[in-house]
Amino acid sequence: MNSFEIHIPTRIYFGSSKESAFFDQLKDYGNRVLVVIGGGSVKRIGYLDEVKANLSQRNIEFVLFEGIEPNPHAVTIDRAAAIGKENDVDFVLAFGGGSVMDASKAIAGLIHDDAKEIWPYVLGEPKYKTMQGALPVATIPTTAATASEVTAHAVISNPEVKGKSPISYPFLKPSASWLNPAYHTSLPPQTTRDGASDILSHVFENYILGGNEAPPADRYSEGVMQVVIEALPKVLENPENESLRGQLLWASTMALNTMQTAGRVPTTFLLHNLEHALSGYNPNLAHGRGLAILYPAYFKWLVENNRCVDRLALLGEKLFDIKTSNINESAAEFIAVFEGWLEDNGLYQRLTDQSIPAEAFPEIADYALRVYGDGEKIDAAGPITKENIIEIFKLTEEQIAGSINVAEV
Ligand code: NZQ
Ligand code: ZN
Repeated sequence: MNSFEIHIPTRIYFGSSKESAFFDQLKDYGNRVLVVIGGGSVKRIGYLDEVKANLSQRNIEFVLFEGIEPNPHAVTIDRAAAIGKENDVDFVLAFGGGSVMDASKAIAGLIHDDAKEIWPYVLGEPKYKTMQGALPVATIPTTAATASEVTAHAVISNPEVKGKSPISYPFLKPSASWLNPAYHTSLPPQTTRDGASDILSHVFENYILGGNEAPPADRYSEGVMQVVIEALPKVLENPENESLRGQLLWASTMALNTMQTAGRVPTTFLLHNLEHALSGYNPNLAHGRGLAILYPAYFKWLVENNRCVDRLALLGEKLFDIKTSNINESAAEFIAVFEGWLEDNGLYQRLTDQSIPAEAFPEIADYALRVYGDGEKIDAAGPITKENIIEIFKLTEEQIAGSINVAEV
């Protein structure tokens, strides 16, 4: 086991009966809050009225900021922070998906630092600025995906420069989060699928690259993956089932709360690095969908390059009971079965299906290398070069729905 340090300061409230406890807790953070929402789904569905009523009952004044985009734009965050500052808010309440939660963290940082623009703070920006602190942030996640409700990260997009990049500080970890599955029953099927894909990626990226030294992290991660693999098809069939929604929601929080990697070799999240570059290029690409497109291609690339094959074979054994006498065979079978699962769940696609043409691959690879690597390579259990990234992107072109025949493997 490798050394590790874990600090999860977020008070987590799970379930509808924790509503009062969560809103009571908010009083500790002040009596004026900036409530941040996305494009309006929580308003249309009526959830926002419940939140407003809870705040009013506790004499917490609120200012509403509406309009955070999926893959939140830097300029929108700047606008929201200016409004928060003007209104002298004490804390920020994020009510939405990962984009709203990330935007809220960034807004809380800008208000604290009395700064006007978020983009100079993101990783890889030449004008890189260090954030000094943030107002308290509370969250009510309405997607099961990012775990932003407990993480130190906020991922920001800037369509003007085709960029998408994170800020990460321990003080951005939310102070309190209310996980209410009832708010998830309205999620459209595609957003549900994209979220599940994101959850899986959070657990298996380090699983694959992080070595064999931490069986507790392995067993924990396998459990989270198993829940997602089993629950997603059921949720898609029963979208209003709160119990099933709750399974995905809690799995999402567990998948990126730092327990999942404890004791392994720390590694970069390569697929995340690449996906951020992809959705920086096309801000309409949902994060989880971009990841799902990359998985099979990346797995095949790993096997072709003889990297981490034993870990892919282990995943096959633990998740799908695949056992053969040869790890390459097991890894190949795992990839085929997993591709089948992706296809069955509407997640098997190509980059070109998402308006990312092959001509853009070099430019996107350059962005990923600059932000997440040293300009030439990213270290991911061995170097990943520009050529390698383009190879992985090109492999995604073989992912044509209807093309998999698991029986032949
Ligand atoms: O904008 P509204 O109207 O709210 O609609 C949203 C949006 O269109 C909709 N939605 C959310 N909850 C809903 C709902 N529709 C109906 N009912 C509900 N209950 O869903 C759409 C997608 O929302 P978004 O927040 O963009 O999705 P997600 O939660 O997947 O967040 C993605 C963002 O999080 C970042 C991603 O890069 C991406 O920018 N990530 C953040 C991380 C972190 N902070 O630690 C880690 C992740 O790996 C990820 O990078
Ligand atoms: Zn993610």
